[in-house]
Amino acid sequence: MTSAEPELERADRDRGGRGLNGAKVGRAQCAELTIDPRSPSTSRVYDYFLGGSDNFAVDRALAAQLSATLPDIGAIMRANRAFMRRAVRFLLDAGIRQFLDLGSGIPSATNNLHELARQCSGRARVVYVDLDPTAVARSRHALAGNRDTTIVQADLRDPRAVLGHPETQRLLDLSRPVAVLILGVLHDIPDADNPADIIAQFRERLAPGSFLALSQGVRDTRDDTGGATTSSYDDGYGGGRPRLTLRDRAQTLGLFDGFGLVAPGLVFLEDWRPALTDESRTSPRAAQTADLPDRLRRSTGKPRSGGKPRSGGDPGSMGNPATHPGRTLGTDTAHRGFARGAPPGHRAALGGVGLR
Ligand SMILES: C[S@@+](CC[C@H](N)C(=O)[O-])C[C@H]1O[C@@H](n2cnc3c(N)ncnc32)[C@H](O)[C@@H]1O
Repeated sequence: MTSAEPELERADRDRGGRGLNGAKVGRAQCAELTIDPRSPSTSRVYDYFLGGSDNFAVDRALAAQLSATLPDIGAIMRANRAFMRRAVRFLLDAGIRQFLDLGSGIPSATNNLHELARQCSGRARVVYVDLDPTAVARSRHALAGNRDTTIVQADLRDPRAVLGHPETQRLLDLSRPVAVLILGVLHDIPDADNPADIIAQFRERLAPGSFLALSQGVRDTRDDTGGATTSSYDDGYGGGRPRLTLRDRAQTLGLFDGFGLVAPGLVFLEDWRPALTDESRTSPRAAQTADLPDRLRRSTGKPRSGGKPRSGGDPGSMGNPATHPGRTLGTDTAHRGFARGAPPGHRAALGGVGLR
Protein backbone atom coordinates (compact mmCIF):
# COMPACT_ATOMS: atom_id res chain seq x y z
CA MET A 1 0.00 0.00 0.00
CA THR A 2 1.32 3.43 -0.83
CA SER A 3 0.69 6.60 1.08
CA ALA A 4 -2.15 8.63 -0.39
CA GLU A 5 -0.59 11.88 0.66
CA PRO A 6 0.38 13.20 -2.81
CA GLU A 7 -3.03 12.30 -4.23
CA LEU A 8 -4.83 13.81 -1.29
CA GLU A 9 -2.73 16.93 -1.57
CA ARG A 10 -3.66 17.09 -5.27
CA ALA A 11 -7.30 16.51 -4.41
CA ASP A 12 -6.96 19.17 -1.79
CA ARG A 13 -5.59 21.64 -4.37
CA ASP A 14 -8.26 20.73 -6.92
CA ARG A 15 -10.90 21.51 -4.35
CA GLY A 16 -9.46 24.86 -3.43
CA GLY A 17 -7.75 23.64 -0.31
CA ARG A 18 -10.39 21.22 0.88
CA GLY A 19 -9.63 17.49 0.95
CA LEU A 20 -11.75 14.60 2.18
CA ASN A 21 -15.27 15.75 1.39
CA GLY A 22 -14.43 19.27 2.43
CA ALA A 23 -12.32 18.26 5.42
CA LYS A 24 -8.85 19.66 5.60
CA VAL A 25 -6.47 16.74 5.54
CA GLY A 26 -3.23 17.23 7.37
CA ARG A 27 0.06 15.44 6.81
CA ALA A 28 0.02 13.76 10.20
CA GLN A 29 -3.46 12.37 9.67
CA CYS A 30 -2.57 10.98 6.24
CA ALA A 31 0.65 9.47 7.49
CA GLU A 32 -1.18 7.81 10.35
CA LEU A 33 -4.04 6.45 8.27
CA THR A 34 -2.27 5.80 4.95
CA ILE A 35 -5.17 5.95 2.53
CA ASP A 36 -4.50 4.11 -0.72
CA PRO A 37 -6.21 5.83 -3.67
CA ARG A 38 -5.05 3.18 -6.17
CA SER A 39 -6.97 0.27 -4.67
CA PRO A 40 -10.73 0.35 -4.23
CA SER A 41 -12.11 0.22 -0.72
CA THR A 42 -15.48 -1.14 0.30
CA SER A 43 -16.20 1.94 2.39
CA ARG A 44 -15.55 4.34 -0.50
CA VAL A 45 -17.46 2.27 -3.08
CA TYR A 46 -20.39 2.16 -0.64
CA ASP A 47 -20.02 5.92 -0.12
CA TYR A 48 -20.22 6.41 -3.88
CA PHE A 49 -23.41 4.39 -4.18
CA LEU A 50 -24.94 6.37 -1.33
CA GLY A 51 -24.21 9.62 -3.16
CA GLY A 52 -21.18 10.64 -1.12
CA SER A 53 -18.01 12.37 -2.26
CA ASP A 54 -15.40 10.41 -0.36
CA ASN A 55 -14.36 8.15 -3.20
CA PHE A 56 -11.59 7.98 -5.79
CA ALA A 57 -11.67 7.18 -9.50
CA VAL A 58 -10.69 3.59 -8.75
CA ASP A 59 -13.73 3.24 -6.46
CA ARG A 60 -16.05 4.70 -9.09
CA ALA A 61 -14.62 2.40 -11.75
CA LEU A 62 -15.34 -0.60 -9.55
CA ALA A 63 -18.81 0.75 -8.83
CA ALA A 64 -19.39 0.81 -12.59
CA GLN A 65 -18.10 -2.75 -12.93
CA LEU A 66 -20.31 -4.01 -10.12
CA SER A 67 -23.31 -2.18 -11.54
CA ALA A 68 -22.76 -3.82 -14.89
CA THR A 69 -23.05 -7.21 -13.19
CA LEU A 70 -25.77 -6.32 -10.72
CA PRO A 71 -27.65 -3.20 -11.87
CA ASP A 72 -29.57 -2.97 -8.61
CA ILE A 73 -26.50 -2.85 -6.42
CA GLY A 74 -26.86 0.84 -5.59
CA ALA A 75 -30.48 0.33 -4.61
CA ILE A 76 -29.47 -2.61 -2.41
CA MET A 77 -26.91 -0.46 -0.60
CA ARG A 78 -29.42 2.31 -0.06
CA ALA A 79 -31.93 -0.25 1.22
CA ASN A 80 -29.27 -1.39 3.69
CA ARG A 81 -28.80 2.18 4.91
CA ALA A 82 -32.55 2.65 5.23
CA PHE A 83 -32.74 -0.58 7.22
CA MET A 84 -30.09 0.83 9.58
CA ARG A 85 -32.21 3.93 10.18
CA ARG A 86 -35.37 1.94 10.90
CA ALA A 87 -33.51 -0.47 13.16
CA VAL A 88 -31.98 2.42 15.10
CA ARG A 89 -35.37 4.05 15.52
CA PHE A 90 -36.71 0.77 16.83
CA LEU A 91 -33.80 0.43 19.23
CA LEU A 92 -34.19 3.99 20.49
CA ASP A 93 -37.88 3.33 21.06
CA ALA A 94 -36.84 0.20 22.95
CA GLY A 95 -34.86 2.38 25.33
CA ILE A 96 -31.38 1.61 24.00
CA ARG A 97 -28.95 4.48 24.56
CA GLN A 98 -25.64 2.70 23.82
CA PHE A 99 -24.60 1.64 20.33
CA LEU A 100 -21.59 -0.28 19.02
CA ASP A 101 -21.50 -0.07 15.21
CA LEU A 102 -19.05 -2.61 13.77
CA GLY A 103 -17.93 -1.76 10.23
CA SER A 104 -19.57 1.64 10.43
CA GLY A 105 -18.25 3.01 7.12
CA ILE A 106 -17.93 6.62 5.96
CA PRO A 107 -20.49 9.00 7.50
CA SER A 108 -23.30 10.01 5.14
CA ALA A 109 -24.38 13.60 4.67
CA THR A 110 -27.35 13.11 6.99
CA ASN A 111 -29.11 10.58 9.19
CA ASN A 112 -26.07 8.86 10.59
CA LEU A 113 -26.52 6.67 13.64
CA HIS A 114 -25.14 9.28 16.06
CA GLU A 115 -27.41 11.93 14.56
CA LEU A 116 -30.48 9.72 14.93
CA ALA A 117 -29.40 8.87 18.47
CA ARG A 118 -29.09 12.54 19.35
CA GLN A 119 -32.80 13.01 18.62
CA CYS A 120 -33.83 10.73 21.48
CA SER A 121 -34.47 11.70 25.03
CA GLY A 122 -31.53 11.15 27.32
CA ARG A 123 -27.86 10.83 26.53
CA ALA A 124 -27.04 8.33 23.79
CA ARG A 125 -23.50 7.13 23.23
CA VAL A 126 -22.13 5.66 20.01
CA VAL A 127 -18.90 3.82 19.27
CA TYR A 128 -18.14 3.42 15.59
CA VAL A 129 -15.60 0.76 14.60
CA ASP A 130 -13.96 0.43 11.20
CA LEU A 131 -10.68 -0.79 9.79
CA ASP A 132 -10.66 1.40 6.73
CA PRO A 133 -8.48 4.54 6.90
CA THR A 134 -10.89 6.68 4.86
CA ALA A 135 -13.83 5.70 7.05
CA VAL A 136 -11.80 6.47 10.16
CA ALA A 137 -10.50 9.82 8.87
CA ARG A 138 -13.93 10.97 7.76
CA SER A 139 -15.55 9.82 10.98
CA ARG A 140 -12.94 11.64 13.05
CA HIS A 141 -13.63 14.79 11.11
CA ALA A 142 -17.41 14.44 11.40
CA LEU A 143 -17.20 13.73 15.11
CA ALA A 144 -14.78 16.47 16.12
CA GLY A 145 -15.98 17.93 19.39
CA ASN A 146 -18.64 15.23 19.89
CA ARG A 147 -18.05 13.78 23.36
CA ASP A 148 -20.77 11.12 23.10
CA THR A 149 -19.62 9.48 19.85
CA THR A 150 -16.25 8.14 18.84
CA ILE A 151 -14.54 6.14 16.11
CA VAL A 152 -12.23 3.25 16.91
CA GLN A 153 -9.95 1.86 14.23
CA ALA A 154 -10.08 -1.87 14.85
CA ASP A 155 -10.88 -5.19 13.25
CA LEU A 156 -14.29 -6.48 14.28
CA ARG A 157 -12.83 -9.99 14.15
CA ASP A 158 -11.00 -9.11 17.35
CA PRO A 159 -13.82 -8.53 19.88
CA ARG A 160 -11.39 -8.30 22.77
CA ALA A 161 -9.54 -5.41 21.11
CA VAL A 162 -12.79 -3.65 20.21
CA LEU A 163 -14.35 -3.99 23.65
CA GLY A 164 -11.10 -3.34 25.49
CA HIS A 165 -10.27 -0.20 23.51
CA PRO A 166 -10.05 2.84 25.82
CA GLU A 167 -12.62 4.74 23.75
CA THR A 168 -15.10 1.86 23.92
CA GLN A 169 -14.57 1.66 27.64
CA ARG A 170 -14.95 5.41 28.03
CA LEU A 171 -18.33 5.53 26.31
CA LEU A 172 -20.01 2.17 26.80
CA ASP A 173 -21.13 0.69 30.09
CA LEU A 174 -21.28 -3.03 29.31
CA SER A 175 -23.22 -3.74 32.48
CA ARG A 176 -26.15 -2.04 30.76
CA PRO A 177 -27.86 -2.92 27.43
CA VAL A 178 -26.01 -2.10 24.25
CA ALA A 179 -27.11 -2.46 20.63
CA VAL A 180 -24.45 -4.00 18.42
CA LEU A 181 -24.87 -3.20 14.73
CA ILE A 182 -23.20 -5.37 12.07
CA LEU A 183 -24.67 -4.08 8.85
CA GLY A 184 -23.45 -4.70 5.34
CA VAL A 185 -20.13 -6.04 6.62
CA LEU A 186 -20.29 -9.78 7.05
CA HIS A 187 -20.10 -10.51 3.33
CA ASP A 188 -16.48 -9.40 3.81
CA ILE A 189 -15.92 -11.92 6.61
CA PRO A 190 -15.35 -15.43 5.19
CA ASP A 191 -16.67 -18.53 6.90
CA ALA A 192 -13.05 -19.41 7.71
CA ASP A 193 -13.03 -16.47 10.14
CA ASN A 194 -16.08 -17.94 11.87
CA PRO A 195 -18.40 -14.93 12.07
CA ALA A 196 -20.80 -16.81 14.37
CA ASP A 197 -18.01 -17.22 16.90
CA ILE A 198 -17.04 -13.54 16.57
CA ILE A 199 -20.64 -12.52 17.29
CA ALA A 200 -20.81 -14.98 20.20
CA GLN A 201 -17.75 -13.34 21.73
CA PHE A 202 -19.50 -9.97 21.62
CA ARG A 203 -22.75 -11.51 22.88
CA GLU A 204 -21.08 -13.02 25.92
CA ARG A 205 -19.98 -9.55 27.02
CA LEU A 206 -23.41 -7.97 26.57
CA ALA A 207 -25.90 -7.39 29.36
CA PRO A 208 -29.37 -8.95 29.08
CA GLY A 209 -31.63 -6.60 27.16
CA SER A 210 -28.90 -5.91 24.61
CA PHE A 211 -29.63 -6.20 20.89
CA LEU A 212 -27.92 -7.34 17.70
CA ALA A 213 -28.92 -5.68 14.40
CA LEU A 214 -27.47 -7.50 11.41
CA SER A 215 -27.75 -7.46 7.63
CA GLN A 216 -26.18 -9.90 5.21
CA GLY A 217 -25.98 -10.20 1.43
CA VAL A 218 -27.72 -13.26 -0.01
CA ARG A 219 -28.06 -14.64 -3.48
CA ASP A 220 -30.81 -12.92 -5.41
CA THR A 221 -33.75 -15.28 -5.50
CA ARG A 222 -35.25 -13.85 -8.68
CA ASP A 223 -32.33 -14.47 -11.01
CA ASP A 224 -29.17 -15.96 -9.67
CA THR A 225 -26.72 -13.16 -10.22
CA GLY A 226 -24.82 -14.29 -7.13
CA GLY A 227 -22.10 -16.11 -9.05
CA ALA A 228 -21.38 -13.22 -11.40
CA THR A 229 -21.53 -10.70 -8.56
CA THR A 230 -19.09 -12.75 -6.53
CA SER A 231 -16.62 -12.91 -9.44
CA SER A 232 -16.92 -9.20 -10.08
CA TYR A 233 -16.43 -8.37 -6.40
CA ASP A 234 -13.52 -10.77 -6.01
CA ASP A 235 -11.82 -9.40 -9.13
CA GLY A 236 -12.38 -5.81 -8.07
CA TYR A 237 -11.31 -6.02 -4.46
CA GLY A 238 -9.21 -9.11 -4.13
CA GLY A 239 -7.35 -9.49 -7.40
CA GLY A 240 -9.35 -12.64 -8.11
CA ARG A 241 -8.98 -14.02 -4.59
CA PRO A 242 -12.23 -14.85 -2.78
CA ARG A 243 -13.60 -11.74 -1.05
CA LEU A 244 -17.40 -11.88 -1.18
CA THR A 245 -19.25 -14.32 1.05
CA LEU A 246 -22.95 -14.43 0.31
CA ARG A 247 -24.93 -16.54 2.77
CA ASP A 248 -28.29 -18.21 2.63
CA ARG A 249 -31.12 -17.68 5.09
CA ALA A 250 -30.21 -20.59 7.37
CA GLN A 251 -26.60 -19.47 7.61
CA THR A 252 -27.65 -15.92 8.38
CA LEU A 253 -30.13 -17.10 10.97
CA GLY A 254 -27.29 -18.98 12.65
CA LEU A 255 -25.49 -15.69 13.22
CA PHE A 256 -28.29 -14.73 15.65
CA ASP A 257 -27.54 -17.70 17.88
CA GLY A 258 -28.23 -16.67 21.47
CA PHE A 259 -30.53 -13.82 20.44
CA GLY A 260 -34.32 -13.96 20.12
CA LEU A 261 -35.36 -12.35 16.86
CA VAL A 262 -37.88 -9.56 17.22
CA ALA A 263 -40.75 -9.37 14.74
CA PRO A 264 -40.82 -9.60 11.80
CA GLY A 265 -37.76 -11.83 12.13
CA LEU A 266 -35.06 -12.23 9.49
CA VAL A 267 -36.51 -10.78 6.31
CA PHE A 268 -35.52 -8.98 3.14
CA LEU A 269 -34.36 -5.51 4.11
CA GLU A 270 -37.32 -3.66 2.64
CA ASP A 271 -39.71 -5.86 4.62
CA TRP A 272 -38.27 -5.08 8.06
CA ARG A 273 -40.78 -2.73 9.70
CA PRO A 274 -41.22 -0.59 6.57
CA ALA A 275 -43.63 1.70 8.41
CA LEU A 276 -41.03 2.67 10.98
CA THR A 277 -40.32 6.10 9.57
CA ASP A 278 -39.55 9.42 11.21
CA GLU A 279 -43.25 10.07 11.55
CA SER A 280 -43.99 6.73 13.18
CA ARG A 281 -41.83 7.59 16.16
CA THR A 282 -44.55 9.88 17.38
CA SER A 283 -47.38 7.56 16.41
CA PRO A 284 -49.32 5.34 18.82
CA ARG A 285 -47.61 2.37 17.20
CA ALA A 286 -44.21 3.70 18.19
CA ALA A 287 -45.49 4.39 21.66
CA GLN A 288 -46.35 0.70 21.96
CA THR A 289 -42.70 -0.15 21.56
CA ALA A 290 -41.53 2.48 24.03
CA ASP A 291 -41.69 0.13 26.99
CA LEU A 292 -39.65 -2.64 25.38
CA PRO A 293 -38.00 -5.06 25.97
CA ASP A 294 -40.56 -6.64 28.34
CA ARG A 295 -43.41 -6.31 25.90
CA LEU A 296 -41.30 -7.10 22.84
CA ARG A 297 -43.11 -8.98 20.16
CA ARG A 298 -40.80 -11.77 19.09
CA SER A 299 -40.92 -13.80 15.94
CA THR A 300 -41.23 -17.55 16.14
CA GLY A 301 -38.78 -20.31 15.57
CA LYS A 302 -35.42 -18.79 16.42
CA PRO A 303 -33.70 -20.90 19.04
CA ARG A 304 -31.50 -19.31 21.63
CA SER A 305 -28.15 -20.94 22.16
CA GLY A 306 -28.51 -23.86 24.51
CA GLY A 307 -32.05 -22.91 25.31
CA LYS A 308 -35.59 -23.45 24.20
CA PRO A 309 -36.94 -21.64 21.13
CA ARG A 310 -38.34 -18.26 22.03
CA SER A 311 -41.33 -16.84 20.36
CA GLY A 312 -41.06 -14.38 18.58
CA GLY A 313 -12.26 11.47 -13.92
CA ASP A 314 -9.24 13.04 -12.20
CA PRO A 315 -7.55 9.97 -10.94
CA GLY A 316 -6.83 10.27 -7.28
CA SER A 317 -9.35 12.95 -6.45
CA MET A 318 -12.48 12.34 -4.51
CA GLY A 319 -15.95 13.13 -5.69
CA ASN A 320 -19.20 11.71 -6.89
CA PRO A 321 -20.44 12.37 -10.43
CA ALA A 322 -23.90 11.49 -9.25
CA THR A 323 -23.94 14.44 -6.88
CA HIS A 324 -21.17 16.52 -8.47
CA PRO A 325 -22.23 16.82 -12.12
CA GLY A 326 -18.95 18.48 -13.08
CA ARG A 327 -17.10 15.21 -12.59
CA THR A 328 -17.16 12.28 -14.94
CA LEU A 329 -17.08 8.54 -14.60
CA GLY A 330 -14.90 6.13 -16.53
CA THR A 331 -18.19 4.68 -17.67
CA ASP A 332 -21.58 5.98 -16.65
CA THR A 333 -23.06 2.59 -15.82
CA ALA A 334 -22.86 3.17 -12.10
CA HIS A 335 -24.22 6.69 -12.48
CA ARG A 336 -27.26 5.43 -14.33
CA GLY A 337 -27.66 2.70 -11.74
CA PHE A 338 -27.49 5.30 -9.02
CA ALA A 339 -30.02 7.61 -10.65
CA ARG A 340 -32.56 4.93 -11.46
CA GLY A 341 -33.74 4.41 -7.91
CA ALA A 342 -34.67 1.27 -6.07
CA PRO A 343 -36.43 -1.38 -8.10
CA PRO A 344 -39.33 -2.85 -6.19
CA GLY A 345 -38.85 -6.13 -4.44
CA HIS A 346 -35.16 -6.64 -4.83
CA ARG A 347 -34.16 -9.69 -2.86
CA ALA A 348 -30.44 -9.58 -2.26
CA ALA A 349 -29.95 -8.92 1.45
CA LEU A 350 -31.57 -10.02 4.69
CA GLY A 351 -31.83 -8.07 7.90
CA GLY A 352 -33.05 -8.64 11.42
CA VAL A 353 -32.79 -7.51 15.02
CA GLY A 354 -32.27 -9.92 17.91
CA LEU A 355 -32.64 -9.46 21.64
CA ARG A 356 -30.18 -11.02 24.07
C1 LIG B 1 -20.48 -1.54 3.07
S1 LIG B 1 -19.82 -0.66 4.44
C2 LIG B 1 -21.22 -0.68 5.55
C3 LIG B 1 -21.29 0.56 6.42
C4 LIG B 1 -22.40 0.57 7.45
N1 LIG B 1 -22.31 -0.57 8.35
C5 LIG B 1 -23.78 0.55 6.82
O1 LIG B 1 -24.42 -0.51 6.82
O2 LIG B 1 -24.24 1.57 6.32
C6 LIG B 1 -18.78 -1.92 5.18
C7 LIG B 1 -17.75 -1.33 6.14
O3 LIG B 1 -17.20 -2.39 6.93
C8 LIG B 1 -15.82 -2.16 7.09
N2 LIG B 1 -15.17 -3.44 7.43
C9 LIG B 1 -15.00 -4.53 6.63
N3 LIG B 1 -14.37 -5.50 7.30
C10 LIG B 1 -14.12 -5.03 8.54
C11 LIG B 1 -13.49 -5.58 9.70
N4 LIG B 1 -12.97 -6.81 9.68
N5 LIG B 1 -13.40 -4.81 10.80
C12 LIG B 1 -13.92 -3.55 10.82
N6 LIG B 1 -14.53 -2.99 9.75
C13 LIG B 1 -14.62 -3.71 8.64
C14 LIG B 1 -15.38 -1.58 5.77
O4 LIG B 1 -14.18 -0.84 5.91
C15 LIG B 1 -16.58 -0.68 5.44
O5 LIG B 1 -16.39 0.62 5.93
